Amino acid sequence: MDIRLLRSSDIPHVQQTNITNLPENYFLKYYLYHALSWPQLSYVAVDLSHPPKYPGEPPKIVGYVLAKMEEEPADGIQHGHITSLSVMRTHRRLGLAEKLMRQSQRAMAEAFGAKYVSLHVRVSNKAALHLYRDTLQFKVEKVEPKYYADGEDAYSMKKDLTYLA
Ligand code: ACO
Repeated sequence: MDIRLLRSSDIPHVQQTNITNLPENYFLKYYLYHALSWPQLSYVAVDLSHPPKYPGEPPKIVGYVLAKMEEEPADGIQHGHITSLSVMRTHRRLGLAEKLMRQSQRAMAEAFGAKYVSLHVRVSNKAALHLYRDTLQFKVEKVEPKYYADGEDAYSMKKDLTYLA
């Protein structure tokens, strides 16, 4: 398994992975906006175990993290934001999400001087909550009622990145 930076040519495959794994979906141009504005921050996990069957076969993308910098931070503090993270069911519990998140967090601090990283997660999403809170040491900042289109609440979470400075 290879973790590498997102390339523009990966975007249709990342979008497919996102649609398969999450109800929060985005237009292609929103992915492109991330890739062009903050090319250092978004990563993909590629399964290299199957050699290409033909020249130019697209990479087998099994996970991604789509991330950005907050452009107008309300608190005036430079920080990053995780827009979306997912790993295909067939490739879960291998540590891929943790690796994708750590790469992006490091790049936020090193390339943009991010002081912290934020994200939203459904209150019912046990697997992601374990990952964020227990493995990566994010803290719950607050609950945002009815954050999602279907009415579910979100935890707004944050992780300090100053230790990476
Ligand atoms: N149950 C409990 N804890 C879990 C689970 C689970 N099913 N999955 C991951 N974790 C926690 C554990 O603490 C785990 O550490 P351990 O394996 O040492 O116990 C830790 O997360 C790291 O696990 P990874 O293997 O790195 O996680 P994985 O690659 O399986 O991906 C993810 C986790 C992204 C949540 C995956 O389950 C997924 O894609 N789910 C559907 C999409 C999703 O919910 N994405 C997050 C939405 S929020 C957002 O996008 C900002």
